[in-house]
Amino acid sequence: MRKTLLASAFIATTFVFAFAASDGAALYNKCKACHGADGSKVPAGAKTAVKGQSAADLEKKLTGYKDGSFGGEKKATMQRMAANLSPEDIKALAQYMSGL
Ligand code: HEC
Repeated sequence: MRKTLLASAFIATTFVFAFAASDGAALYNKCKACHGADGSKVPAGAKTAVKGQSAADLEKKLTGYKDGSFGGEKKATMQRMAANLSPEDIKALAQYMSGL
């Protein structure tokens, strides 16, 4: 009984985590303050809004922040943001933002 409970708790947690990890809308909550709820806000020091960009471009840019191959003057801010994103998170975010 205890084992079953533990096992189902583990499975439930895994599902919740897997869902949350690939939910672009939930992930984007962390980005709203600087980029705006609809992606149209241009953060201080940035040149471009994320709104209107394709998923492919957004994915490339976020991956670039993570591996250090992309960025402007304020890239340190985004490198910190992207450091904790998995490739799946980046895909989900790019998909979500391209629809803003
Ligand atoms: C503290 C403010 C802040 C937060 C929070 C933030 N960003 Fe940014 N973002 C910036 C700044 C500043 C830039 C410009 C950086 C540079 O100079 O390259 C930027 C640039 C970007 C760009 C590139 C835009 C372009 O076309 O050049 C993308 C994509 C992006 N952010 C996505 C995100 C995502 C996704 C999140 C949430 C996980 C996020 N940002 C959270 C401030 C922020």
